[in-house]
Amino acid sequence: MTKQYNWAILGCGKIARKFAEDLKLLPNAKLYAVASRSLDRAHEFAVQLGFEKAYGSYIELVEDPNVDVVYIATPHSHHHEHALLSLTYKKAVLCEKAFAINAREAREMIDCAKENNTFLMEAFWTRFQPGFLKAMEILESGELGELKMVRSDFAFNAEKNADLRLYNPDLGGGSLLDIGIYPVFATIMTLGKPSSIKTLPQFGFTNCEESIIMSFKYDNGAMASLVSSFASHSSIQSEYWCEKGYLRLNRRWFANAQICIWRQGMEHEEAVEVAPIEGKGYQFEAAHVMKCLDEGKIESDMMTFEITLNIMNTLDRVRADAGIVYPKHDLPSAN
Ligand SMILES: NC(=O)c1ccc[n+]([C@@H]2O[C@H](COP(=O)([O-])OP(=O)(O)OC[C@H]3O[C@@H](n4cnc5c(N)ncnc54)[C@H](OP(=O)(O)O)[C@@H]3O)[C@@H](O)[C@H]2O)c1
Repeated sequence: MTKQYNWAILGCGKIARKFAEDLKLLPNAKLYAVASRSLDRAHEFAVQLGFEKAYGSYIELVEDPNVDVVYIATPHSHHHEHALLSLTYKKAVLCEKAFAINAREAREMIDCAKENNTFLMEAFWTRFQPGFLKAMEILESGELGELKMVRSDFAFNAEKNADLRLYNPDLGGGSLLDIGIYPVFATIMTLGKPSSIKTLPQFGFTNCEESIIMSFKYDNGAMASLVSSFASHSSIQSEYWCEKGYLRLNRRWFANAQICIWRQGMEHEEAVEVAPIEGKGYQFEAAHVMKCLDEGKIESDMMTFEITLNIMNTLDRVRADAGIVYPKHDLPSAN
């Protein structure tokens, strides 16, 4: 018989709401508990989304023996603290991106999962989107020849409000860890870790990095040109330029995007069929977590610890080059 898992959400913000809606699509997921720093907010969230229990502190949630999996939906600045808290109570953890503020924190979280023999995965939802998986399959098939260049962007004009997470340096604010991480992911998944990195950052009204251009270079001659920004809107596309043609994931490439391909000699681009999905697409990562738990794993074979560490190490190197510092956290370890 299929096991049903009691899901709990830590932090009742914007993404928690979207994730909870998609969790309803999974028959083996039970919307069990939520926790907020405010009991009123937890109650309101639980009633609106259909959770059984509401807690006014995070510690009460992890102390509940019936919680199987905790989805951490707090700002990146708090992922380390909240993952360690949950893992110490032997709760499986699905932790939002950016996984942590730096690679040192990420390593400590992974060590804690291993010490407690408890599952931990970064909630990088793109990794599980059918459109992205199809694009990876085409690139890996070699039909377009060797990959030479990744061009990827993610920008939107964010509200200029110092109280919000996006522009608050104490909460890991700035475009890099919030949305720049997506173009970095698009590159890590195909070309791996770069051999050299050059950046051009622009800092905004709270001294947070607001926009950043990143150039990556690889020993085999491949390159990547990546951008993120809170200053303007962008086409939000990822392109993979290969020796015999190119592949493009269209607007909102990181969700279940449509794919276009052009091969040398073709007059027009060709659309690749990507089936529409139900919900927003957060159910795929949640379903994968439960599959891993069914199999008794503490690490995903799709979103591995190595991928997460490669992303975090690369972000540290980007920050070191760009001079991006989060004053309440350690300096990046840059290794
Ligand atoms: N995968 C995706 O598509 C996606 C999309 C958006 C965001 N995210 C990630 O999800 C995380 C949360 O983003 P969000 O947009 O949901 O943020 P948000 O709306 O600001 O919500 C974050 C929640 O964290 C809790 N929190 C705990 N300590 C906090 C503190 N010191 N300051 C502020 N909030 C604190 C709050 O919940 P309580 O007050 O209820 O405790 C707050 O509502 C971020 O790491 C972000 O990168 C992922």
